[in-house]
Amino acid sequence: MPGIVIVGVQWGDEGKGKATDLLGERTDWVVKFNGGNNAGHTVVIGDEKYALHLLPSGILTPGVNPVIGNGVVIDLEVLMYELDALRSRGIDTSRLRISANAHIITHYHRTLDKVTERFLGKRQIGTTGRGIGPAYADKINRVGIRVQDLFDENILRQKIEGALDQKNHLLVKVYNRRAIAVEEILEDLLSYVERIRPMVCDTSLLLNEALDAGDVVVFEGGQATMLDVDHGTYPFVTSSSATAGGAATGSGVGPRRLDRVVGIVKAYTTRVGSGPFPTELFDEDGDRLRARGFEFGTTTGRPRRVGWYDAPITRYANRINGITDLVLTKLDILTGFDRIPVCVAYDVDGRRFDEVPVNQSDFHHARPIYEELPGWREDISGARTFEELPSAARDYVLALEEMSGTRISVIGVGAARDAVIVRHDLVD
Ligand code: GDP
Ligand code: IMO
Ligand code: MG
Repeated sequence: MPGIVIVGVQWGDEGKGKATDLLGERTDWVVKFNGGNNAGHTVVIGDEKYALHLLPSGILTPGVNPVIGNGVVIDLEVLMYELDALRSRGIDTSRLRISANAHIITHYHRTLDKVTERFLGKRQIGTTGRGIGPAYADKINRVGIRVQDLFDENILRQKIEGALDQKNHLLVKVYNRRAIAVEEILEDLLSYVERIRPMVCDTSLLLNEALDAGDVVVFEGGQATMLDVDHGTYPFVTSSSATAGGAATGSGVGPRRLDRVVGIVKAYTTRVGSGPFPTELFDEDGDRLRARGFEFGTTTGRPRRVGWYDAPITRYANRINGITDLVLTKLDILTGFDRIPVCVAYDVDGRRFDEVPVNQSDFHHARPIYEELPGWREDISGARTFEELPSAARDYVLALEEMSGTRISVIGVGAARDAVIVRHDLVD
């Protein structure tokens, strides 16, 4: 069972870092295939808490080979910062490999991200401001800069000139900002060349050889299904393919090599940034979920929007990703609620929708139709088998499994690394 994809089911922050970590010891390779430092994974190991943005969370597990695939956009300053931070805590980062085809986020991408958001005013996406969207736009526009361009100064200069040509007109004439000099960008990018050189290679070749040899390769998705540029709540999405198909294009392996697709889903729902969110709570229950679940962005520190579990979203994610196993995280955060509402369908201006409506306006108007499930009061964070859970918690999990249409193989009952109940092995 060598190729395992991990994807977020909802709007991100489901606890994907923990799932990668759980597979840790049996994993040979962990590949990040999309996104950039807009992601934020928090992994708790013992008393240590690690917040990673750009690096795949598998980098924390000794013996795992971390890879940044071609589908990722890389901010070199952030890359070096994260590597230094891990090294200073004694983590070996020397095995990191980076695709020569990955694209680079530069100063002008970050600037454009911020000014375009400001111009959107009320329609703003609420991006992380890290330059993700503009870097992917350049990639699709064929004016992006790739990691391999760093090693040929002439080519690099030409590419920066080409990219800045249009952008400086935009920055100066439309956004009223100063023009950015080619030399400034060139100098900045060149300053990283020697450090990055030993890490860069043909990661597609590397990964295909690893799969040929029977190694276990985990493809770690950033963001989530509902933030995917094709399948999410467009335009309130990120700019990459965060779904299982993105694992193939974003790493250069064929789809037939992806044996298992693991969807990570929180026992309730959160979202950062703008866009529709049918089960969103604005009341005390919401405040309680946010406080207990510590729902504040790892990347921007923004309070996350919170709401109840939404079963049609999980069914949708199953369909888009071909999910084989679900990991249900943060079940412990629901402890203490008398009744737990779960969204089973939507009401859209008097019409019932059992599935996520394809029309964005309908989804904006969707009001959740809830089924209420009984809560539990017992502390479940010490449970390590399904049978140790209180019966109401077991029934909650079984109800979600039934509604979602895919087996729940792992249940998260606490932030710690070992705070999980494994019902079905993810690797066998
Ligand atoms: P990611 O972006 O999907 O990797 O998720 P984040 O790291 O942004 O957010 C998930 C947070 O939930 C992290 O702080 C995890 O330590 C924490 N977490 C993950 N699983 C559980 C769980 O089962 N229970 C609790 N209480 N916390 C969890
Ligand atoms: P992880 O991997 C939650 C959201 C932003 C914004 C939208 C677009 O930790 O689950 P971008 O900067 O990507 O152009 O912003 O996407 N967003 C995330 N929300 N978790 C993430 O990553 C996110 N990455 C981007 O808040 O609404
Ligand atoms: Mg996160």
